[in-house]
Amino acid sequence: MQTRILTPDPAGIRRACELLAEGQAVAIPTETVYGLAADAHNPAAVAGIYAAKGRPSFNPLIVHVADLEAAGRIAVLDEDARRLGRAFWPGALTLVVPLRADAGIAGLVTAGLATVALRVPAHPVAQRLLRASGMALAAPSANPSGRVSPTTAAHVADPATGLGGRIAAVIDGGPCPVGVESTIVSLIGGEARLLRPGGIPAEAIEAVLGQPLLRPPADPSPRDPVAPTAPGQLTSHYAPRAPLRINARAARPGELLIGFGEIAGEMTLSASGDPAEAAARLFDMLRVADAADRPIAVAPIPETGLGAAINDRLRRAAAPRPGDDSPAPGA
Ligand code: TXA
Ligand code: MG
Repeated sequence: MQTRILTPDPAGIRRACELLAEGQAVAIPTETVYGLAADAHNPAAVAGIYAAKGRPSFNPLIVHVADLEAAGRIAVLDEDARRLGRAFWPGALTLVVPLRADAGIAGLVTAGLATVALRVPAHPVAQRLLRASGMALAAPSANPSGRVSPTTAAHVADPATGLGGRIAAVIDGGPCPVGVESTIVSLIGGEARLLRPGGIPAEAIEAVLGQPLLRPPADPSPRDPVAPTAPGQLTSHYAPRAPLRINARAARPGELLIGFGEIAGEMTLSASGDPAEAAARLFDMLRVADAADRPIAVAPIPETGLGAAINDRLRRAAAPRPGDDSPAPGA
């Protein structure tokens, strides 16, 4: 299969709509990362996402919709869900909420759960596609399972490290402005729990809820086949191929140091120490560093705001890999 690069104009959107209506998977830009989208109501189309990504089938997918109203047709939204939706949608927040039994979402999307993860993306191309197709789009990040999320169309289309040759098309909407995946909050069982830190700082969500978010239980081990609540929690998940060491103040012999703030490094996530700039560059820089074929070290990033999402991804990238018996250096 040849992966076509579509332009983010009406012709490209039209072509993407045709492919989606045929049940194909199409990679699309969102403000967080590129997603691999398919019609959430079409089981065969959703199966195509899992096949292209090589994703374990217990991993449920986020459903993208155009607005809060469309979200309410798929899930039961209580007062907290509506409050968070009004505050952060469109944007980098995903809510796990009770699935409506009559929503018609393919069982593969939710991996058979009675809950669904919903997000209203802010990216104008994603918005146009949602409105033009009239579909709810199931879309995980558009990377092979376990690898770093793509933040450009070129990342997606790369035949070696991306999905080039395995999907019908990618719409090129330029680099993703946020650069890390959405924050996932579960509102199941009358409690608000942070399942994954991401593009909306937990502090901002807590301010709207007027209460602290509960935190996820400790990470399951990558060798432990227990189905996690949000498999973004799999310990080794956002992995470059090279070993990675975090909280590095200086490079050890042979290491490529990625800097932040005062620690310059060979390249820097943000010379001014801005976590938002660092998030937007993170995955691209990990790819560039990985191509150098040397061990990677990354300077410390403060844990506040988007720093929490960056550190979460870096800790996972530094964790021992499934099938890797040696501990990651410096982990
Ligand atoms: O920014 C993002 O969230 C990107 C863009 C494309 O929207 N998407 C993304 O999707 O990161 P993905 O599939 O790579 O991560 C989705 C996470 C997974 O960890 C999955 O387990 C969790 O959402 N998830 C989905 N449905 C869930 C559910 N019903 N309950 C708990 N977690 C769920
Ligand atoms: Mg992902």
